Amino acid sequence: MKNKLLLYLIFLMAAVTAGIYIGCEETTDNLITTPTSAAHPSGWRDSSSTNFHGKFIQDNKLWNLKKCQGCHGADYKGGSTGMNCNTCHIEPGGPENCMLCHGSKSGNINPPKALNGNTSIEYLGVGMHEFHLDTTKYSKNVECSECHKLFNNVFSDSNHIGNMPDGIADINFGSLAKTSIGGGIFPVPVWNRSSGSCSEVYCHGNFKNGNRDAIAVWTDSASVKCGTCHGDPNTGNPNPKPNGTFVPPHSSTFTINNCYLCHGSVISNLGKITNKNLHVNGIINY
Ligand code: HEC
Ligand code: HEC
Ligand code: HEC
Ligand code: HEC
Ligand code: HEC
Ligand code: HEC
Repeated sequence: MKNKLLLYLIFLMAAVTAGIYIGCEETTDNLITTPTSAAHPSGWRDSSSTNFHGKFIQDNKLWNLKKCQGCHGADYKGGSTGMNCNTCHIEPGGPENCMLCHGSKSGNINPPKALNGNTSIEYLGVGMHEFHLDTTKYSKNVECSECHKLFNNVFSDSNHIGNMPDGIADINFGSLAKTSIGGGIFPVPVWNRSSGSCSEVYCHGNFKNGNRDAIAVWTDSASVKCGTCHGDPNTGNPNPKPNGTFVPPHSSTFTINNCYLCHGSVISNLGKITNKNLHVNGIINY
């Protein structure tokens, strides 16, 4: 009796191990085809279900949608299944619509929302997107291509998601971040993901008489204000003061209310940036 029980236990363990092994090998296929009676599990079309296809795509990083296209057709109109994705995904582009996975229906293709739905600026996937793209204070709106590789907004471009998506956007700085305005300074901008910060960026101070060591934290809007890119970060006076000393024509007596005397195309006598197109544009306007 004892022996039989032991044999049974060994058999059970072997079966379970084999099951786990098969499970690991075919996780995505299993979920797409179970329960065996239908192509997808129940709840697949229900956004509140744990079996919801949107959740499944996220959990398995299937964002390039190649797997779905295999049965539902390259145009998502049903393929061999007769099930047209666009009957629900009615926005232009169907499931490739730029606001489905990131951004929001209010019109932004950039986060918030992030890929996982997060909308907090403290989350790396959200960060300062809005401040650079939609509600800029100091400059005109920055293009996506200033931080991400340009892919002409074509969903299937290999620079977008690729064959092995990890759900982490690649950072590739564009020409503005690398601008040189003289002084032998040629910025090589750095994105440090573990600290969530940018350094050595032209826009944030890496230029002649700028604050070359300035660090901009992607998840902290307070890390950038008047004085952090050039001038004095403590007092907020933007009067350029590299290494603590003023370089003519700038002098220690200048306040934010004097800048307009020479930079009148950019700033008013009240110290307000009046032409955002001419500030942080890669050219000194005076
Ligand atoms: C192996 C082929 C196959 C693959 C791969 C596949 N589907 Fe399907 N899908 C079907 C078939 C067949 C149907 C229609 C029959 C059904 O509802 O079970 C269907 C139906 C659906 C439905 C409607 C379900 C319902 O309950 O009405 C949705 C939504 C769907 N698929 C989404 C997806 C998504 C998203 C992917 C990619 C992650 C995907 N499918 C991958 C075969 C497939
Ligand atoms: C029965 C309606 C329905 C059908 C059919 C359907 N979807 Fe969806 N899908 C939804 C809903 C609802 C959402 C959640 C939308 C949202 O959050 O705005 C969604 C979300 C998604 C997402 C977002 C995943 C993410 O990362 O948030 C993708 C991608 C997607 N669907 C792909 C497909 C594809 C591919 C097909 C066809 C194979 C398909 N869907 C068919 C209703 C549907
Ligand atoms: C000023 C630089 C900058 C600009 C401009 C910018 N991004 Fe980003 N983007 C980032 C950073 C930094 C991250 C975080 C990368 C990481 O997680 O390592 C990111 C991440 C993302 C992600 C991934 C979100 C997630 O959930 O992880 C998407 C999607 C994205 N950006 C889309 C866009 C789009 C679309 C635009 C233009 C409309 C844009 N970005 C413009 C810097 C930028
Ligand atoms: C099915 C989901 C989905 C849709 C739809 C989608 N994206 Fe993305 N997007 C992603 C994912 C996932 C990433 C992160 C890239 C990775 O994992 O390598 C991303 C990243 C990005 C980035 C950051 C740069 C990069 O390539 O990493 C930009 C910019 C972007 N998307 C723009 C767009 C535009 C424009 C569209 C519409 C043509 C679009 N996205 C539609 C899922 C999507
Ligand atoms: C007397 C005229 C004058 C005033 C007043 C003035 N600037 Fe300038 N500024 C210049 C000139 C000229 C240049 C270009 C210098 C060069 O090419 O090296 C310049 C360049 C700059 C630069 C680029 C970095 C550099 O030093 O070359 C910044 C930043 C700047 N000014 C900010 C300010 C701010 C902020 C104020 C107000 C606090 C201000 N300036 C007041 C004349 C002035
Ligand atoms: C994000 C970094 C950043 C911040 C914050 C910033 N500046 Fe600048 N500023 C620059 C850069 C870069 C330049 C160099 C010239 C250019 O590209 O416009 C510049 C140049 C200037 C100039 C010279 C005229 C010109 O060419 O633009 C003035 C004046 C100026 N800034 C005033 C201000 C004032 C006032 C504030 C705060 C309200 C401020 N800046 C905040 C980055 C910044």
